[in-house]
Amino acid sequence: MAKIKSAYFCQGCGHESPKWLGKCPSCNEWNSMVEEVVQKQSASDKLFSDAPKRSTPHRIDEVVSLEKKRFMLSDNEFNRVLGGGLVVGSITLIGGEPGIGKSTLLLDIALNSGLKTLYISGEESEEQIKLRAERIGSETNDCYLLTETNIQNILHHSKELQPHVIIVDSVQTVHTATIESSPGSISQIRECTAELLRYAKTTGIPVILIGHITKDGAIAGPKVLEHMVDTVLQFEGDRNHVYRLLRSVKNRFGSTNELGIYEMSSAGMRQVENPSEILISNFDSQLSGVAIASTMEGNRPMLIEVQALASTAAYGTPQRSSTGFDLKRLHMLLAVLEKKCGFRIGQKDVFINLAGGIKVDDPSIDLAVVCAILSSNVDIAIEAKTCFSAEVGLSGEIRPVPRVEQRISEAEKLGYKRIFISKHSKGITQDQFKIKLVAVSKIEEVLKHLFG
Ligand code: TYD
Ligand code: MG
Repeated sequence: MAKIKSAYFCQGCGHESPKWLGKCPSCNEWNSMVEEVVQKQSASDKLFSDAPKRSTPHRIDEVVSLEKKRFMLSDNEFNRVLGGGLVVGSITLIGGEPGIGKSTLLLDIALNSGLKTLYISGEESEEQIKLRAERIGSETNDCYLLTETNIQNILHHSKELQPHVIIVDSVQTVHTATIESSPGSISQIRECTAELLRYAKTTGIPVILIGHITKDGAIAGPKVLEHMVDTVLQFEGDRNHVYRLLRSVKNRFGSTNELGIYEMSSAGMRQVENPSEILISNFDSQLSGVAIASTMEGNRPMLIEVQALASTAAYGTPQRSSTGFDLKRLHMLLAVLEKKCGFRIGQKDVFINLAGGIKVDDPSIDLAVVCAILSSNVDIAIEAKTCFSAEVGLSGEIRPVPRVEQRISEAEKLGYKRIFISKHSKGITQDQFKIKLVAVSKIEEVLKHLFG
């Protein structure tokens, strides 16, 4: 029997210390150190974990490239965010707030990917999962459910079943017998992930872990898990909206600017292949205060509807509020309009909303925001089938944005007739496109085109 040892762990970042500290030296959080029993058995007692293989050095050209070995799942959005499918032997962590739809998304993958999948749930009973599976609907019967939280038992069942993919819902519920602290504690999460990691690397079975997010938006035990796993995905969205975004935060096998979009329906998650169509409301009559921006999310161009309302402030201090757009940037754009373009917008309330509950950081949306505000201010609608893609600088100049060709093509594909871009965009000529390009360098020029 090994000696019982205890250590103090920061519940925020997982920092380990042999003695209690008032303030965590790693994340500077106060009162976050909690004592946990760390009881390690000797290696020979670990019944079900694989003994580490003795490794030998290999020349780099002898090493088989991982790129070729990927499982393509049925879910194209998920494949894209992973960088082109699930890599064999990889360990993926998907984080999100409770109720956002993580279990639904992964059960859908388990049911419909055509791969033999072991879905481990420590949160719901088999009957509950079955009910959910009936809502989602399945094409194959190769999904196995296991309601188990002991990691040794999980690995034991996995060895018998030999699945293609393992899904663990959630990493906070599993525990290992080699450590005495309670499930969900930092040391348990770390040890269980390490155990699954070893298993994934030795057998080549990819493991997908679901992780809950703490109040401040980090995956519980964030520092501990993020460096251990190969890929960290974030599942986010406004709970009051039906759209959900899957972002990659870290990816050892692909780029992190990919984005997957889903719609929560009564029958599970629906992949949204053409985001532009859902993010624009198709009203018959043009409304004032609406402008369409052609933006990029990662490598994906999409059109987004910007709605603005500028009205005379009812109270002394005008209000400025925005949903989906950075408020500081809105203040900056308003200051530019006031100072450089002479608009008296200082006494107006200004509200900005991006349709569909989506958040955009891409500065190419600036020009659309400015035009939506001005359109609402003068109460004249912007002509239909017009869109914008340019950044606005501090002196009111219209600046070019990267990959403008892709943005223009997307607008053209969706039937737009003209797009406002910066005069300084390089390598763009009108002959390349059917859509009319309006190259501008100042806000005043845009206004002349729009409102005469
Ligand atoms: P769930 O996957 O349980 O969230 P998480 O695992 O991230 O906590 O999703 C829960 C929500 O999803 C719940 O509020 C109901 C909704 N939902 C649907 O709208 N349609 C469906 O088909 C399913 C299964 C769930
Ligand atoms: Mg869940």
